[in-house]
Amino acid sequence: MQKLHNYIISKLVPLYGTEEAEALELRLWQYERGFSRFDLHLHRYDLLDSGNAARLLAVVDRLAMGEPIQYIYGEAPFFDFMFKVSPDVLIPRPETEELVDAIVKANAGFDGLIADIGTGSGCIAVSLKKFLPTANVTGFDISVGALAVARFNAEKMAEDVSFRQADVLNPEFSFGFTPHIVVSNPPYVTYSEMKEMNRNVLDFEPHLALFVDDNDPLLFYRVIAAKAASEMATGGQLWFEINRAFAHETCNVLVEAGFCKVEALKDLNGNMRIVTGVLK
Ligand SMILES: C[S@@+](CC[C@H](N)C(=O)[O-])C[C@H]1O[C@@H](n2cnc3c(N)ncnc32)[C@H](O)[C@@H]1O
Repeated sequence: MQKLHNYIISKLVPLYGTEEAEALELRLWQYERGFSRFDLHLHRYDLLDSGNAARLLAVVDRLAMGEPIQYIYGEAPFFDFMFKVSPDVLIPRPETEELVDAIVKANAGFDGLIADIGTGSGCIAVSLKKFLPTANVTGFDISVGALAVARFNAEKMAEDVSFRQADVLNPEFSFGFTPHIVVSNPPYVTYSEMKEMNRNVLDFEPHLALFVDDNDPLLFYRVIAAKAASEMATGGQLWFEINRAFAHETCNVLVEAGFCKVEALKDLNGNMRIVTGVLK
């Protein structure tokens, strides 16, 4: 095992650096053998049978090619929950936990209707239902593959969440009910920002979930804000995860759509990551 450890680290360091390579190796052993850091140390000089070693090496090869470990094992943590993920969905991010957290804190005991646009794995919709159990939550996505994953996650967590396939950019789109809260983490990375992104995001995560045209980076925000303004009642809340490069512009989108109390909130790293407003 010591030999294997040296090999794994040498394969992963070029792409991930030492710290992340070690963290990935530990997760690999956790998945494959249920090992903790302590077990790993304890079994350092054990012999591994060839079947297990071959399996492990195949995973190491995939990691070394940049494939995210979440897609290899098909799951990703979000809060304390484990969400199924597949290449049809974005891997849930910690920033998005902060968005959910902010909504929950502002809406203790909420029992109205919530629409989550671009639900992906369903991480926002299902977590909101977990934390606000009397809410009625519907997730929308254009991707049939993503919706299958979101439905699986809701069922696995025994949460009663509805999902609907819809293209929010289609002028005919309607929520089909009067939401009190509209939340969205829409595609917001511009193609010109692509070159700054890691290969494991670019090569493996769905581009449909990530990218918008450079000419109109706020397209989804404008369309969703207008739709929310026309279908929500006064006092309805809009919550967005945003591209931190466009915090000011996204706030303006909400103001122009008729929202008041518009503010941009910082994430734990001090970046503007959330924009929210209340319908006048
Ligand atoms: C940034 S991902 C967010 C996924 C998930 N809500 C999260 O926070 O991890 C954006 C999602 O929007 C969906 N999407 C892209 N274009 C869409 C459209 N025109 N109408 C509805 N959903 C769309 C994608 O399939 C993707 O699941």
